[in-house]
Amino acid sequence: MKDWENFVTACMACQRCELHKTRKNVVIGRGVPKRVPLLFVGEGPGEQEDIQGEAFVGRAGKLLDLLLEALSFDPDHYYIANIVKCRPPNNRVPTDAEMEACLPWLRYQVKAIKPSILVCLGSTAARAIIDKEARITKLRGLWIEREGNLSIMPTYHPSAVLRDIHKRQDFYLDMKKVKERLDEIVHKGEGEH
Ligand code: URA
Repeated sequence: MKDWENFVTACMACQRCELHKTRKNVVIGRGVPKRVPLLFVGEGPGEQEDIQGEAFVGRAGKLLDLLLEALSFDPDHYYIANIVKCRPPNNRVPTDAEMEACLPWLRYQVKAIKPSILVCLGSTAARAIIDKEARITKLRGLWIEREGNLSIMPTYHPSAVLRDIHKRQDFYLDMKKVKERLDEIVHKGEGEH
């Protein structure tokens, strides 16, 4: 726990890229910082997240929460983070340099949280975590197995789902798959801490 506190202090003071100049808050994530079986990773804070200092608390977050509640995800079983921890101006996609600068913070979070499942929310997360050339429309809904017992599920970003109603069904089906795998893990006791 002390380590996590040190991580938060260091992250709050981060000036590794230009985004620190325009941020209001560093957005570390959302959830209880402990070992949990499921980690969601989005792109980066938007306006509301920058103001409130918490991940996915704006419109996209409300949609995500609605779905997580509808599928009975237990908030004790997941943590939500982002590829970059400071808001890119006008919500533009973070640059490669900004992502590179910020990724060590996410790597620390992954080590601390030790998830069995990682959900990439949208193409920025999929490109940073799975493959630089990842196409979310091709990869979404497919499990990618990684060394160290980590299953990755790429799916749409909830903002994309808000913009395009046709993505709703697939987003729902992908999250349902995640919930089924999560239930298996929790029941097996792998996710209990
Ligand atoms: N979009 C993201 O990718 N992350 C957030 O925290 C909010 C919106």
